[in-house]
Amino acid sequence: MKMPKVFLTGGSGRLGTELRKELDNFSAPSSAELNISNYDDVLVYIKKHQPELIIHTAAYTNVSGAETDRTQCWQTNVLGTENLVKVANLLKIKLIHISTDYVFWGDKGMYKEEDIPGPTRNYYALTKLIAESVASLATEHLIIRTSFRPREWPYPTAFEDIYTSQDYVDIIAPDILLAIKHHEQIPFSMLHIATERKSVYELAKRRKPDVQKGSKQTANVSLPDDISLDISRWQSLKKGFCE
Ligand SMILES: NC(=O)c1ccc[n+]([C@@H]2O[C@H](COP(=O)([O-])OP(=O)(O)OC[C@H]3O[C@@H](n4cnc5c(N)ncnc54)[C@H](OP(=O)(O)O)[C@@H]3O)[C@@H](O)[C@H]2O)c1
Repeated sequence: MKMPKVFLTGGSGRLGTELRKELDNFSAPSSAELNISNYDDVLVYIKKHQPELIIHTAAYTNVSGAETDRTQCWQTNVLGTENLVKVANLLKIKLIHISTDYVFWGDKGMYKEEDIPGPTRNYYALTKLIAESVASLATEHLIIRTSFRPREWPYPTAFEDIYTSQDYVDIIAPDILLAIKHHEQIPFSMLHIATERKSVYELAKRRKPDVQKGSKQTANVSLPDDISLDISRWQSLKKGFCE
């Protein structure tokens, strides 16, 4: 199946870097080349490059920074998404928006696509939740909720009392690419792409066998108990795509 011509935001980020490796017909400006908070610049850039699909991974992702740098976080995550939606609708381009498991509070886990999200634990998560509802105003859209870690586990410890369905970015990105490739065959506007439920410690041990068990009780921020996503919708779609 042929990949459409893509406009990728956040191409220098953790996820964007992995996606770029497999895309061949794309434009991916840095934030210095195109600040998505500026509507006129977004319009001019997209008009010039004429993509068939917008993949929006750019975000202000510094969770603790967002608490003090609220304006910057809002302008990137909410206003930036709004600008892309407006241009997507004007030029009749589909938007694939990347969202997060953090739109859920994270007490019960195994959240389904149709579960009502919120409340959120921090300002970053709040802006991502609002960005989802903004993205849903794109005439043609797909919102992908996901969660990932860098290729290597970066800490000496990992929490054993938080459950998640996140995985390493090099495991998640190929699935997101598969969804992008088959986007026309996805009959949903919301999709969870992650892997099975496990503790953060279990995940860390896979790439850092000597990682030590930690507890979220030691953290000075509010963290979820179980933020795992139900991925059965994606599993069944993926089976069809891989047959
Ligand atoms: N990392 C996670 O654990 C995680 C979990 C779940 C969901 N997500 C979501 O996945 C997506 C990708 O996250 P990531 O961790 O790969 O991001 P990241 O590594 O923090 O990179 C952020 C990207 O956004 C771009 N960006 C930031 N502000 C911008 C602006 N005003 N205009 C244009 N571009 C801007 C940056 O460009 P420059 O480098 O050029 O400044 C960079 O490419 C985000 O939507 C995030 O919310 C992430």
